[in-house]
Amino acid sequence: MSNTQSTVFERIGGEQTIAEVVDDFYERVLADPELKPFFKNTSMDKLRCMQKEFFSAALGGPITYSGKSLSHVHHGRGITKHHFARFVNHLLGTLQYHKINDQEVNDIISRINTYADEITGDISPAD
Ligand code: HEM
Repeated sequence: MSNTQSTVFERIGGEQTIAEVVDDFYERVLADPELKPFFKNTSMDKLRCMQKEFFSAALGGPITYSGKSLSHVHHGRGITKHHFARFVNHLLGTLQYHKINDQEVNDIISRINTYADEITGDISPAD
């Protein structure tokens, strides 16, 4: 077991690692013909920036996510569980490529999986 006093954010290398992982991750997402069309009208620079904040905050880092609520952003885009699973699979591949250890990878993937219902529209946006 790694140091329980530290956060996943710190253990994987903080802001620098998150930035590299997110950049690589979206390269994989955009190279996936089933996912690419979702992003055709999206500013990828802004998205990468928001996703770095989101991941950092979700992994216990000292960063506040300043974007919109996940259900608000994703609702109505037709994102299914199948798309979500592909997305998470690309994240898994990226984390392994960056040599994040298996325990941290499992932790990150299970945290991300908790957002499935917000992303796939099973929960309506509150606003
Ligand atoms: C747990 C998984 C996911 C997380 C944590 C996540 C997170 C985010 C964040 C933080 C943003 C930026 C919000 C903002 O601009 O304020 C965003 C935008 C977006 N996400 Fe996701 N996302 C996830 C899954 C997905 C999936 C599976 C798809 C599609 C296959 C997707 C498609 C999009 C698109 C198209 C946008 C940009 C919307 C725009 O153009 O403004 N996301 N996501």
